Amino acid sequence: MTNPEKNFDAKIEDILSKLTLKEKIGQLNMQVSPRNDQALADIMDQLRRGEFGSMILANSDTAGNDAPESVNTAMCNKVQKIAVEEGPHGIPIIYGRDIIHGYRTIFPIPLAASASFNDELVEKAARYSAIEASAVGVHWTFSPMLDMCHDPRYGRIIEGPGEDPVVGRHMAKSMIKGYQNGDVSKEDSLLTCAKHFVGYGASEGGRDYYRTEIAPYTLYNYYIPAFREAVNAGVDTVMPSFNDISGEPVSGSKHYLTDVLRKDLGFEGLLVSDWAAVHYLADQGITANDKESTEVGINAGMEIDMCDNCFINNLEELINEGKVSMETLDNAVRSVLRLKFKKNLFENPYCKMPQVDRTEHLKCAKELASECMVLLKNEGNVLPLPKDKRIGLLGPFVHEKRALLGSWCSNGKEAETPSLCEKMLEKFGADKIITENNHTEIDDVASAVIFHSDILVLALGESHRVTGERRSLSDITLTPSQKALVKKAKASGKKVVGVFFCGRPLALEGIAEYLDAVLYAWHAGSETASAAADILYGDIVPSGKTVITFPRQVGHIPMYYNATKNRFNCYYGSYADFSYEDSTATPYYPFGYGLSYTTFEYSPVKTDVSEISLEDVQKGKKITCSVTVTNTGDYDGKETVQLYLRDVVGKMMRPYRELKDYNKIFLKKGESKTVEFTIGYDELGYYLADGSYILEKGDFEVLIGENSLTKNLAKIKVI
Ligand code: GLC
Repeated sequence: MTNPEKNFDAKIEDILSKLTLKEKIGQLNMQVSPRNDQALADIMDQLRRGEFGSMILANSDTAGNDAPESVNTAMCNKVQKIAVEEGPHGIPIIYGRDIIHGYRTIFPIPLAASASFNDELVEKAARYSAIEASAVGVHWTFSPMLDMCHDPRYGRIIEGPGEDPVVGRHMAKSMIKGYQNGDVSKEDSLLTCAKHFVGYGASEGGRDYYRTEIAPYTLYNYYIPAFREAVNAGVDTVMPSFNDISGEPVSGSKHYLTDVLRKDLGFEGLLVSDWAAVHYLADQGITANDKESTEVGINAGMEIDMCDNCFINNLEELINEGKVSMETLDNAVRSVLRLKFKKNLFENPYCKMPQVDRTEHLKCAKELASECMVLLKNEGNVLPLPKDKRIGLLGPFVHEKRALLGSWCSNGKEAETPSLCEKMLEKFGADKIITENNHTEIDDVASAVIFHSDILVLALGESHRVTGERRSLSDITLTPSQKALVKKAKASGKKVVGVFFCGRPLALEGIAEYLDAVLYAWHAGSETASAAADILYGDIVPSGKTVITFPRQVGHIPMYYNATKNRFNCYYGSYADFSYEDSTATPYYPFGYGLSYTTFEYSPVKTDVSEISLEDVQKGKKITCSVTVTNTGDYDGKETVQLYLRDVVGKMMRPYRELKDYNKIFLKKGESKTVEFTIGYDELGYYLADGSYILEKGDFEVLIGENSLTKNLAKIKVI
C-alpha cells in the first residue's frame, strides 16, 4: 500500500487547526522505547495525553555500543494502537532507529563499504537494510552518517565516508536511494536522516563530543558537500551535530541550521536533534538551563527534540512568554505531520511483520565485504595462498565473531557470524589448516603451530569495543601482544600474512615491515570471514581502495591527501624530510590505494580539448578526458579508476589533488578498456567563505590513476 499523494498541506492544516498547544508541543517530543512494563504503561499514558509524537527504538543514548538487540514489534504495534485509537486526533507515532550498516544482516561498516568504490552495492546494502528494518516496524533510520574525517583516532570514523568529499557525496546518494527505494511511503522503505550536520568529524584530537575549529572556506568545500548531495538526493530529515564550530554550537545555531542548511542548501525536510543535544546547549555554556536551551534550540530551527524532555517541559511557557512564536511551533508541527504523511502512517500505521528471505541480503553482504577489503601489501605474490601447503592460523581474531560485525550492529547475531577459522577450514580443508581451538597467541601454542606450518596467517586487528561513539583511541598501533606475535612469526623465517579486522586505519609502520602480505578486512559484517577466506584462497581477487590515509604513526595525524597545497607538501614527498626532525610524514598508505592479484597499466591521460572558455563551462560545456586501462597480470580483476583535478592557481589556496570522480571497472586478464570522465562546472569550481561558488580561468591538471599519488597527468586551461 503506498500513498501516491505528495502534497499533504490541506490535511496538515486541518489537523493543526484542531490541536491544542500541549498537543502541538507533544508532536515535537521523541521518547525512548520502554525497557519494562512500568515504562510501557507510563508511555501509554503519555501517549493518551498526546505528550510525544515519535519514538527511538534504542536501549540507550549510545545505541551503537549496546549489545545487539531486536526490535520489539509487538510493543511497537501496541503503542501505535494507543496513539491511533486513544491519542489526540489519532495521529500515529513514528519509529526511528540507527540502522547504520544493516539490521539483522550486517554489511561492512560504512568506512569499509566506501572502500569498495561500488556505489551499486552500497545502494543495494541500504535497500536490504530497509527491507529488514521496516519488516520489524522501523519507519526511519538515522543514516547516512556523512561526517568527513581525517583523524583515525576518532571512534566514529567507522560510520562515515572517510576523508574525501566526493566519496561522501557518492555515499549520500547511494544510501539514501537504497533506503527510500523511490517511494518512502512504501512499507519496505525507510525515511532517511543525514547526520551529523555539520563538522562533527573535525573534533579536535579525534576526541568525541569535543570542539572544532572550521573556517567557512573549509566548511563549504570539505564538510558540507556530502550534505548538499544528501539534500539534492531528497533526504527526509537532518540531524544537527553535538559539536560547536569555533564557539558556536551547531544544535543551537540559527546560522548553520537555518541560513546554511535551509537557505544555502535548500533543505525543506525535518530537523531532529541528536540525543539530548538541546539539553547539552547548557553544558556548552550558551544557555543556563533547559528552558533557555529550548528557546535557543527551536528558534535555531530544531523541530524534534530527542529524549531530553526539553521541549515538552518548557515550550508552553516560552510560547506564553512570547519567546517562541506560535508560527515557529506550527511550522515544526507541520514538519512532523508531513513526515508521517510521507510515510503513509495515517493510512498504514501498523507493522504487518512480513517474513523476509535474507538469502539475497547475505549474498550482497558477502559481495560488499569482498569488494571493500584492501590488499595493502603482497610481497612476492605470497597471496593467494598456495593450496598444497600447511597454513598456520594464529592471532586473537582467529575465532573472533562479534568484532567482525563492528559497532552499530543493531540486531546482528554473533552466533550467526562465521569466524575466520571456520571459513578457512571450510575453504582449505582441515588437513591444510593448523591452529588451536583457542589461545592462538599464547607463546608455546604459537611456537607449535609455527613449527608445523609452511606459511602463517595472523588474524589481527581491533575490537569493535574501541570503535564507534564515545570510543576514540589515542594509540592506533597494534596491541603489544599482537606486535610480539608478528615478530615471533617473522622470526620463524616462514612467509607471514597479516589479516586485519579493524574499524579504522591503524598506524602500521613498524609492523607491516614484518609481514609479507597485509589484507585489511575491516569490520565487514556478517560475511567478513567468508570474504577474507575467499580472498586468501584466490577465489576472489581483492579490489578495495583506501578512503582514508593510513598514517605512519599517530604523531603525523592529521595526515590527508586533499590538504591545500603548501611549499612543504610532504604528503607528496616534497620537503618530506622537513616535516619533523624525528620522522618523515609521508603516508604509509595513501588515499585511494589498494593492490590486486593482477596488475593494471594506464595509458597517458587524453583530453578531447586542452582548453575551454569560462563562458562555455558556465553554459554546461565539458571537457572529456580518458585513459585506457589494461589488465597486464594473471587474474581477472576490478580496478577503481580515479579522476583527480588540481586548480594550479586560484583566488584561494587549493588542494594539490582533489578526487572528482571514479569508475570501478572489471577487466579480464589481457583486456583493455577506455574509461572516460567529463570535467565541467561541478568539477572546476569551488566555494568561497561566503558560500558562493566560483569558477576561475587558469591552468588545471587532470590526473587519472590508481590512487591519489598518480602522476598520470594532462594539462587543461580555462580561458
Ligand atoms: C547518538 C548519536 C546519533 C544517533 C542518536 C540516536 O548520540 O550521536 O548518531 O543517531 O544518538 O541513537
